[in-house]
Amino acid sequence: MNVRKISDHVLSLGASDPGLQYFDKLMPTPYGTTYNSFVVRGEDKVALLDPVQSDSIHQLLSNLAEAGIDHIDYILCLHTEQDHSGATELLLQRFPEANLVGTAKVAEFLEVHLNIPASEVQLIAENETLDLGGLGLTCVPIPFAHWPDNTMYWLEEERILFSSDLYGSHYAAPAHKAADEAIQLETTRSYYAEIMMPYSKQVARHVAKTRSLDPAIICPGHGPIWYDPDKVLSLYESYVSERMDIRVVMPVVSMHDSTKTMAYYLAEKLEGLGIPVNIHHLDNPNRDLRVSMGEVVEDTVDAACLIMAVPTVLTGPHPSAGALALMLNAFKPPLKYIALIGSFGWGSQIEKRFYDLLPQVKAERLDTLLIKGLPTKEDYELLDDYAQMVKEKLTSLSEE
Ligand code: FEO
Repeated sequence: MNVRKISDHVLSLGASDPGLQYFDKLMPTPYGTTYNSFVVRGEDKVALLDPVQSDSIHQLLSNLAEAGIDHIDYILCLHTEQDHSGATELLLQRFPEANLVGTAKVAEFLEVHLNIPASEVQLIAENETLDLGGLGLTCVPIPFAHWPDNTMYWLEEERILFSSDLYGSHYAAPAHKAADEAIQLETTRSYYAEIMMPYSKQVARHVAKTRSLDPAIICPGHGPIWYDPDKVLSLYESYVSERMDIRVVMPVVSMHDSTKTMAYYLAEKLEGLGIPVNIHHLDNPNRDLRVSMGEVVEDTVDAACLIMAVPTVLTGPHPSAGALALMLNAFKPPLKYIALIGSFGWGSQIEKRFYDLLPQVKAERLDTLLIKGLPTKEDYELLDDYAQMVKEKLTSLSEE
């Protein structure tokens, strides 16, 4: 049972999945996640926002029963990705009197993803208000946060914003406790990195819109509710800003320690020059690669530079670095600089093969530094020069 009163007219009664390890089979979720659903009760009508994923319908129905909700007038679909919409048909079977409500884009996507005819959706337009009697839910589309159909609803009378995926976190706090704020902030950052970062320009506009509404409470589609919205809005404003930390993110893969030797030496030199370096090993045999890749992506939210340290395998990059490159290309971190270093055995085409995987990453590419075999004294001097070059590039950013 997981029913929480948010205000006199609003209940939270979604589903919790604390054991989930990877969202979308990709994004590490060490604190699980929630599939939030809310009920708003006006004087005349009852609305439910987000029908949860299909596997969690039993939790939603149980919570509705616990809350004494035996009639629903409107089921509002904020976003048709299945983790929010999957149980729509099942919910309609239990509440056949309900009208399914969504934007034109939601209606289009419900047909695509759930085979619900678009004609069965009661359309709502931007800024239109669904009257519940003494209360109204106003439609605020937020396209590409992170799908074209994401929609917020604004309950002006209580200054409560239902924000869909925006401002979410993958964190299933225990039902009997308040959310741990440190975990909420940590998971909000990783969630932003893997869900919102590819669309940071659109997200910046949605954050400005949210500021203009000045909500007292934000109810996202995943994770705990924000009772002090300034916390998450300030975080998002820092994520979408142009300002980057003068810091190097250094993912490392090494087979015979030559590349690792280069990476450690360069990192030590950079640190000595006052440039912080975060090393992330992609070659830990006791760790799922998705965990390490997720940490790299999260680190790139506000880092100015990424230096990939990777050996050559059969003339191309080690596949672990290739997998990371596909991730970076998808999540489009706002890096200013990207670089490639590594050791090879007898021949390499790694530079072209690596960057061919990154067409969407617009960072300036620094010179590639490849070394044959184990670094020699001359190679260490090249690494000294390389550290100096990286420092000057990053310093020029802070001068800008
Ligand atoms: Fe939480 Fe885009 O689904």
